[in-house]
Amino acid sequence: MAQGEVRAVLKGCGIAIPEVEVDNHMLARVLETSDEWIRARSGVVTRYYVEPGVGSSELGAQAARSALADAGLEAAEVDYIVCATMTPDHYFPGSATLIQQRLGIEPKPAIDLRQQCAGFAYGLQMVDALIRSGQAETVLLVGCDVHSSLIPFPPRSWQVLLGRQPPPAPPEEFEWNSRFRHLVVLFGDGGGAMVFRAEAGGERGIIGSRLLGDGNEKDILYVPGGGSASRPFVDAEMIAAGRTVPVMDGRKVFKLAVTKMPEVTRELLAEQNMSLDDVDLLVMHQANLRINEAAQKALALPDERVHNNIQRYGNTTSATLPICFHEAREEGKAPEGAVVAFVALGAGLHWGAVLLRV
Ligand code: ACO
Repeated sequence: MAQGEVRAVLKGCGIAIPEVEVDNHMLARVLETSDEWIRARSGVVTRYYVEPGVGSSELGAQAARSALADAGLEAAEVDYIVCATMTPDHYFPGSATLIQQRLGIEPKPAIDLRQQCAGFAYGLQMVDALIRSGQAETVLLVGCDVHSSLIPFPPRSWQVLLGRQPPPAPPEEFEWNSRFRHLVVLFGDGGGAMVFRAEAGGERGIIGSRLLGDGNEKDILYVPGGGSASRPFVDAEMIAAGRTVPVMDGRKVFKLAVTKMPEVTRELLAEQNMSLDDVDLLVMHQANLRINEAAQKALALPDERVHNNIQRYGNTTSATLPICFHEAREEGKAPEGAVVAFVALGAGLHWGAVLLRV
């Protein structure tokens, strides 16, 4: 390896988008909502769902294969797997070893991160640490989530939603589904992956990161039932009461996101002796287009230096940053040498920013 500071250099990026496209009108078949409300409040127009039985590791492995192809690397060359997901295939193990298995490679260190919408940003920090410390040379970072698994619609509602049975949904199902309307309309399934390699002496690579967590804000976005704080872990009463579905105080999350995402971006730039003028592209977590418009305004960045795609994919949680970056790069917004600021906020509360020179 050449002399000089070792950095984690991006070698490839890939995504996995499920085939089932669901627009707002389809959701309105099974719950009280409208295309107009969803677009106006969140910007979301469509999202994609996997078929039943497809877990996050399948999307993660698909994105990983495409990132490896983009990097011109073989899966066997990966020597560390980091997977961010809040929807692993099983409560345990996580999805990282399942991705290793799906890639058909020898045993590798494989770790899952549980930082929800900030998971991929935490993953970037971990990749940087692994590579700078010499623990790994080639790291695969995956973000994958299957939110459709958390949507509590009964089977008949799913069939009506997908146009596989004629409407209407039974009235009691319509009422039940509508209880969760503020949540379900926002999310989609997806996967994204990046491959990083240790390179010395160049300018490219992860520049730095600032990630934070604060459990005092746990209650604004969490799943009350199903966990070690309950005995039993889960029971029928919990499910019937809807307590295995996330609760979200949307307004509070919104307020924190529009304050903390710009704040942490500025703090990181200051730590790195850089300014917003040095940022060629801002890639934010895609939770709500209105959040991102407010954050962009707070940072006074012009449209050509920001990329959003929540309109098409909804909030895919751990996958939003790589999917958004991938699309921006395909549109020529992140050429080699460009400085990209990634920023995210999610349940926990976790939030943070990472700077990468592509
Ligand atoms: N369709 C129609 N009406 C709806 C829907 C819907 N899907 N959802 C809620 N409403 C209604 C409400 O019931 C309410 O009606 P009311 O006035 O009769 O009581 C009205 O719309 C306004 O509801 P609010 O919740 O006040 O709407 P708000 O403008 O706050 O928008 C939203 C809600 C879109 C959820 C917004 O608050 C938001 O996006 N917050 C951030 C969410 C977020 O970032 N989550 C992070 C996920 S990250 C992770 O880590 C998983």
